[in-house]
Amino acid sequence: MARIKTGIFGLDQLIEGGVRDNTAIVIVGSSGTGKTTFAMQFLMHGIENGEQGLYVSMEESPEQLMKEAEMLGWDMKKHYEKSLFFIHLKGKNFKKMIDEQIPQLVKARSDYDIKTRVVIDPMTPVIWATEDKLQQRELIGKLFYTLKELGVVVATVEEHSRPGEMIGEDVLLPVYLADGAINLEYYPIGGAFNRTLKIIKMRGTHHGEGVYPYIFARGAGAIIRTSSSEAVKTAEQGEDFGPIFDEAIKTAEFIKAPESIIVKLKKMKETWTYKYSPEEALQVIFDSYGLK
Ligand SMILES: Nc1ncnc2c1ncn2[C@@H]1O[C@H](COP(=O)(O)OP(=O)(O)OP(=O)(O)O)[C@@H](O)[C@H]1O
Ligand SMILES: [Mg+2]
Repeated sequence: MARIKTGIFGLDQLIEGGVRDNTAIVIVGSSGTGKTTFAMQFLMHGIENGEQGLYVSMEESPEQLMKEAEMLGWDMKKHYEKSLFFIHLKGKNFKKMIDEQIPQLVKARSDYDIKTRVVIDPMTPVIWATEDKLQQRELIGKLFYTLKELGVVVATVEEHSRPGEMIGEDVLLPVYLADGAINLEYYPIGGAFNRTLKIIKMRGTHHGEGVYPYIFARGAGAIIRTSSSEAVKTAEQGEDFGPIFDEAIKTAEFIKAPESIIVKLKKMKETWTYKYSPEEALQVIFDSYGLK
């Protein structure tokens, strides 16, 4: 079965190479865990590889989102209304939008042959729009069902329980209705890998069952550490990681890696402010492209 690479470094290795087409994946996490970063990374990976992207937003305008993307190191403006489209669901009448507007949009695109990735970020307002569980279920179910026709859908859901607590009630429904669910947690304690990812479910997939730490790197996005055995090498005082990046860039050029990776590596080099060595993160990136 064909797998679609998420582009989230390290994740694809945990889910048999990627997600299945026409499925909906939810990313659950409390505020600041990185849901938007994951969603944007997924979307931009498709766009950088000739696919199209549809960003469904509720609270933020396309302008705000593109500004946010820029701060994370992605140039969305370049693709705006060419291969990247936004639909801003404003107001409270989600039912009408989900029943009419979105099916119309999907229908209008049904002649296109180009793959489309869909992001719904955040999906929480739809859940909060009504207290009626049955209607919530209908709305979310229909939203997934309609948008999955376009391609893979990634929806983010805000979680309000604290790390380690049981999954909150308002996220149960989207997790249940989705084909896959990923939980992000953030332990603001300091240290190298204080953010972790866990795969709650991934239908039809043999997935990793561990708790995987991840970091952010501007220009590249989230990088998940899949080999938990290695200890993180921390830098000596003032150690310069430039040569490590240069080596990686040289290798990538030598093996004729796609230009988009080389750009990512260069951006990482400019913005790496961690005290630990980027070696492991670079290895995950190389692995996810099948490079050595
Ligand atoms: N590339 C990056 N480099 C450095 N820090 C980053 C990067 N990407 C994200 N972060 C940091 O991680 C945090 C989480 O980002 P993000 O907006 O994706 O979280 P979120 O789960 O969507 O939050 P919210 O629920 O508020 O929407 C931010 O505080 C941001 O500063
Ligand atoms: Mg967000």
